[in-house]
Amino acid sequence: MKSCNGWRRLVICLPIIFFLPYLFSVLDLHQISNIEKLPKKHSNKFDHLVLGPAAGQGLHDRLQCQGLKALNKTHLPNMSHTPDYKDTVSMVTVFTVYNTSVSARANDRSNEMVTVGNTSYSKTERSMAVLNAFINFIQVSMPLSNIIILTDPASEFKINKNRVTVVPIKGEYSRDKLMLQRIKSYIAFLDARLIELSRRHEQIHHYIFTDSDIAVVADLGQIFYNYPKFHLAVTFRNNKDQPLNSGFIAVRGTPDGILRAKVFLQEVLKVYSSKYMKASRMLGDQLALAWLVKSHLSFDAKRFARPNSFLYDIGGTSVLFLPCAVYNWTPPEGAGQFHGMPLDVKVVHFKGSRKRMMLESWNFYNSSASAGISNMLCLILMSGRTKYDF
Ligand SMILES: *[C@@H]1O[C@H](CO)[C@@H](O)[C@H](O)[C@H]1NC(C)=O
Ligand SMILES: *[C@@H]1O[C@H](CO)[C@@H](O)[C@H](O)[C@H]1NC(C)=O
Ligand SMILES: *[C@@H]1O[C@H](CO)[C@@H](O)[C@H](O)[C@H]1NC(C)=O
Ligand SMILES: *[C@@H]1O[C@H](CO)[C@@H](O)[C@H](O)[C@H]1NC(C)=O
Ligand SMILES: *[C@@H]1O[C@H](CO)[C@@H](O)[C@H](O)[C@H]1NC(C)=O
Repeated sequence: MKSCNGWRRLVICLPIIFFLPYLFSVLDLHQISNIEKLPKKHSNKFDHLVLGPAAGQGLHDRLQCQGLKALNKTHLPNMSHTPDYKDTVSMVTVFTVYNTSVSARANDRSNEMVTVGNTSYSKTERSMAVLNAFINFIQVSMPLSNIIILTDPASEFKINKNRVTVVPIKGEYSRDKLMLQRIKSYIAFLDARLIELSRRHEQIHHYIFTDSDIAVVADLGQIFYNYPKFHLAVTFRNNKDQPLNSGFIAVRGTPDGILRAKVFLQEVLKVYSSKYMKASRMLGDQLALAWLVKSHLSFDAKRFARPNSFLYDIGGTSVLFLPCAVYNWTPPEGAGQFHGMPLDVKVVHFKGSRKRMMLESWNFYNSSASAGISNMLCLILMSGRTKYDF
């Protein structure tokens, strides 16, 4: 049981399985958006990976696959290669595990066990497994980075891995307040960092705040190096109603960068609180972010229709807009438009029930030394259209 982390050890390694119901409900951010959309029946959702044709075949700038073999070896492991960008990058996520009352639990069929590989997971264990996969991918793709998990002080989970720190931040992490709380936690974290920086001079330390249901498949440190001017970066897509995604926010770790990013997020929070509280359960932060950006009169929303990154000054904060296709690539379920996977994809986002793919992908990558990230991307590309049971 090498990978037996604190929680799994509690559940599996000790005979206290009967406590499980009391520790039941876990809520992690990425599951929320899917709750409303779930059909009542499970029948059309799969409990194993279903491979279809890979999209984007024949397009020169898209990953080409022959079965589960990538023809473009775009993501070679290169341990000898230490990036020139000397600054440290920390990946930061908000994650919480908490109890719910017995009565609320009784009607909830989401506690059914699901099996991935040879392991069965309760809902809680599933969330912990996703968090562990999140960490594993970062440690493969960015071995020199740190991982910081912001959580409710009341939340009870343990992670025993190197370079991972759990940071409790007080707040209201209940299900309907979670997206609101997430921004507040980011702000509190940046604030604490600013105070630290004012006390002593330290090495520059950049931050990338993300959902925890993502796989980082390339070094993200290059953003800060390749785009030296931005304070804060977000990802955009060509979607009229929701052009911005809040699941990826990079912050330059200079005192100025942190301060500007904090001011920007405080503005987002203000818009959220005044305009989108009804949406606080899920999309509020994205709507607030888009509102703030578009409220800058000279901002041309047509820029979201083009696939290139760009810089824009928003109230004194230099904001870098990065394409979702590369920094937040999401396999589209169902019949959505699907142009394949860019060769330089850096982050894969396993929204909603795609989280099964996240665990399966990690297992695939981890199953043999020759699997490799590129082949794993073919697995993701081919299994992305199916709806899963997560
Ligand atoms: C990707 O692989 C295909 C098939 O081997 C090849 O035709 C194509 O040129 C490659 N693309 C790049 C950018 O190397
Ligand atoms: C590994 O990194 C080194 C140093 O940057 C580079 O010269 C080399 O081409 C890389 N190898 C591969 C296979 O990418
Ligand atoms: C799952 O169990 C089978 C049978 O015990 C074993 O052959 C296989 O290697 C296991 N797979 C994984 C991923 O552990
Ligand atoms: C969760 O439940 C455990 C066991 O019943 C209890 O000790 C703990 O204080 C509870 N935590 C919260 C945040 O309610
Ligand atoms: C799979 O993960 C285990 C630890 O979780 C590690 O010891 C092993 O080297 C990994 N295998 C591969 C092929 O990465």
